[in-house]
Amino acid sequence: MQIHTTIESLRAARARAGRVALVPTMGNLHDGHIALMRQAGEHADSVIASIFVNRLQFGPSEDFDKYPRTLESDCEKLEAAGVKHLFAPTEKVMYPQIQHYHVDPAPAQVSILDGEFRPGHFRGVATVVLKLLNIVQPDLALFGKKDYQQLMVLSNMVRELALPVEVVPGETVRAADGLALSSRNGYLSAEQRAEAPLLYSLLTRIREAVRAGDHDFLKLETEAMNTLTERGWKPDYVAIRHRADLQPPVHTCDPLVVLAAARLGATRLIDNLEI
Ligand code: PAJ
Repeated sequence: MQIHTTIESLRAARARAGRVALVPTMGNLHDGHIALMRQAGEHADSVIASIFVNRLQFGPSEDFDKYPRTLESDCEKLEAAGVKHLFAPTEKVMYPQIQHYHVDPAPAQVSILDGEFRPGHFRGVATVVLKLLNIVQPDLALFGKKDYQQLMVLSNMVRELALPVEVVPGETVRAADGLALSSRNGYLSAEQRAEAPLLYSLLTRIREAVRAGDHDFLKLETEAMNTLTERGWKPDYVAIRHRADLQPPVHTCDPLVVLAAARLGATRLIDNLEI
């Protein structure tokens, strides 16, 4: 695998790489990331991974400084997954000066759910992803459903700005006990790690209830919030939404998704499940 730290080097390699699939990440790779790499390989001649911990998408009191940076072991995992090129720019390469131009996603999409609790987060995500897409110019780019709202925001950005790239979603990869894999799981103590699968089990319970015909969404959401609070979590939201725009359901026959975010100690976990 070739490691590119400059835009020039990456672009020269990209020109010879045929049909390219890009998988943007912030590193500390786990099996969820690697599943995206393998899926990417099925659609393209070359997979280009990127690793960049993007300061723009972290709030002032968030974990930018302590976000795990594990380049060496990440490279081993990427090699094993058949990734040919890694773009791992320094901050100076990505942001040689203050980034003045930003992508502002539609307010209706970022004033809700994670956007409500992480102001500016999706603006930072959209800006860095647009920049990565411009640098790499891939034929397709893969993003996980684990970050469902991120996937929606980025798909809409690509469509509304007519970017010449196809967005391909990847399914969420989970640990055997249901916990969605996340770089932030590493922050959990052994005790918290044992508690963490509760989030997924509550989502599963809601999915089964809705599938069985219970359409009292407010009750289902409130019950799950209460359970989390009783067990010592600090939930931000549990919400049943339309899959397409993540707005509250009007017609219950439309495809739905249930999304949740909650803090367990200092660690904020998010998850979702299509109903
Ligand atoms: P990061 O959290 O590193 O995730 C990189 C990609 O892996 C995202 O598309 C994310 O949805 C996907 N992913 C994470 N956990 C997953 C899991 N358990 N199963 C399947 N896919 C999973 O998301 C980001 O980085 C950043 O916001 C980024 C898009 C790179 C922009 O900085």
